[in-house]
Amino acid sequence: MTPHLPVPSRPAPRHLLDAGAPPSPQQHHRRRRRRRLCPPRARASAASSPSSSVRCCAAAAPQPTVAAAPAATRTRVFVVSDLHTDYPENMDWVRRLEVGARDAGGVDALVVAGDVAETRDNFARTMEALRDRFEAVFYVPGNHDLWLRREGGRYMDSLEKLTALLDACSELGVDTGPRTIGDLGIIPLFSWYHKSFDKEKDVNSVRVPSLEMACKDFHACQWPSDLGSDDEALAVYFDKLNDKNNDAIEEVKKNSKQILTFSHFVPRQELCPEKRMLYYPNLPKVIGSDFLERRLRAIHSNREDGAACHVFGHTHFCWDSVVDEIRYIQAPLAYPRERKRRMNGGEGWLPFCVYRDGFNPDIYPAIWSDYYNKNSREPENTQLAPWVAKYFRKYY
Ligand SMILES: [Fe+2]
Repeated sequence: MTPHLPVPSRPAPRHLLDAGAPPSPQQHHRRRRRRRLCPPRARASAASSPSSSVRCCAAAAPQPTVAAAPAATRTRVFVVSDLHTDYPENMDWVRRLEVGARDAGGVDALVVAGDVAETRDNFARTMEALRDRFEAVFYVPGNHDLWLRREGGRYMDSLEKLTALLDACSELGVDTGPRTIGDLGIIPLFSWYHKSFDKEKDVNSVRVPSLEMACKDFHACQWPSDLGSDDEALAVYFDKLNDKNNDAIEEVKKNSKQILTFSHFVPRQELCPEKRMLYYPNLPKVIGSDFLERRLRAIHSNREDGAACHVFGHTHFCWDSVVDEIRYIQAPLAYPRERKRRMNGGEGWLPFCVYRDGFNPDIYPAIWSDYYNKNSREPENTQLAPWVAKYFRKYY
């Protein structure tokens, strides 16, 4: 997700998607230490070196680690989103990933929740590198994957590029449909966002740039005319792509003890900070899909407690929370500049191991989901957070 700002003559502003993460990592650590929330290793690391990276607070240069699984472990599943390997630093991160547990006799799978690369060539290079490292790789497309601006007229529209990416996956042995790995059913879900996903009160105290100005998708993607006019048409179109997998989904549900669904877009608005916290308060209009939430809930219905997980991406906010008995996780690599501002990541935590012969029971610390795990949402409150007010004063 890459909105841009209409203020080119001024100093480069922060990324519009940033919520500003109110506490700095050091403040965050101090607060967490006070509340005894950081894991001991993270506390020790933060205390000994304020600049060192720890997974709960994000850091500059995450070092990928997929250490060999203990002999008794048979199946591990890692998750990551928003690889954006058009950035050489991010491609380098992928190439530095260690080969998984194959040699130890186990199976390591990786779930990639969209936004791999802007060009088809970088996409294929990335997925090939991942297939070399993991026994199984699962993928759903994100918005950046369907951009056309650097494809040199290779595709008529973004749907044609979607077909080309799915074909590339098929050639590389990347899964884009449901499959059971060990006892875990992994189900990719196609989706696209729609404005009506946003049900919360708008911020009206400042002039917020239009979606067309802020969100590059409106220029970098192209759609057949019947999909471009209506707000929900694209969201419905992508949701219906999942219908062809209905039989396979039922089969996977029958053969699996736990289910992990995943999408690029956001299934619930409460998985994004409130508008008053966001540098781009209209962000919720271009991130999520109600159709997606309905579909994943139907898949997870009748699951026992702790057996349902959904992984998503797109907003680049690390997240781990349980809502109505489904665990929602976002583990984005994100942009190098975001990592430098310590918004995401941390040494050794990506890709995040969500399953090791059973779901990892630890909710991983992430600034915004931690915040909402302890504070209730106040969507009626549209008074800008101090860092957002300051930002608008400076740039508008
Ligand atoms: Fe995205």
